[in-house]
Amino acid sequence: MKKAKSEKPRKRSKSIESYFRAVGDQYERGILAPSILSADFSSLGSEVAEVEKLGIEWLHVDVMDGHFVPNLTIGPLVVQSLRPKTRLFLDCHLMVSNPSHWIDGFALAGADLITIHAEATPHLDRVISQIREAGCAVGVSVNPGTSLSMIEEVLHQVDLVLVMSVNPGFAGQKFIPSSLEKIRRLREIREHSGSRFLIEVDGGVSGDNIGRLREAGADVFVAGTAVFGVKKRADAIRRLSQSMGHAVSRK
Ligand code: DX5
Ligand code: ZN
Repeated sequence: MKKAKSEKPRKRSKSIESYFRAVGDQYERGILAPSILSADFSSLGSEVAEVEKLGIEWLHVDVMDGHFVPNLTIGPLVVQSLRPKTRLFLDCHLMVSNPSHWIDGFALAGADLITIHAEATPHLDRVISQIREAGCAVGVSVNPGTSLSMIEEVLHQVDLVLVMSVNPGFAGQKFIPSSLEKIRRLREIREHSGSRFLIEVDGGVSGDNIGRLREAGADVFVAGTAVFGVKKRADAIRRLSQSMGHAVSRK
């Protein structure tokens, strides 16, 4: 993929503003974000089309560089190929060292949201500004072993905080229960600070814990194995959505 400065960004999902403008509404319902990491890469286009037809609105794109995490997955080229084929909100999770190097490439490719890891850069404020200037919504993520204090100073600058509920690198890992408490604390911080970020949870999300995660305060639920990892996607999405919706009244 070319990275010329003059290259025009690809058309993004039209939903970007609706998700990050009427903040009050966002907390009223959960958003399911299937991760393509568990999809069949040999037919990615039809995999994505299938979940879109089933009412999914966000697609989670796991980007791994073999350095920040011990696995290697996809780059901007895949986002560029998907962009004209789908209206889904492309939620790009960058598990990479030196994220600054990749921002423009993903933005030009058509990412809607770019999430970087707090552990991956000493210049969090600068990279957040870079994502914003590139025209994307901004997310910041923390690993299970990372304290929320590491992102405290930038919470008012981001649209989303991604709480990792497994150590990043692989699909199909076991959910780490202490993530629930971290999400609760993050929601309290949001309430007390008047910040407006969404809370996303990623790793080991399933029908068994999605209700509790919703109750704890998560708004966006990444699900790899629980959606693309099963044959009956319609049933899986229905069950997850029901468990999420029945969890608690958000008022
Ligand atoms: C883990 C990734 C996750 C993962 C989720 O490093 O960031 O998005 O694919 O997969 P499951 O839902 O199988 O844990
Ligand atoms: Zn992810």
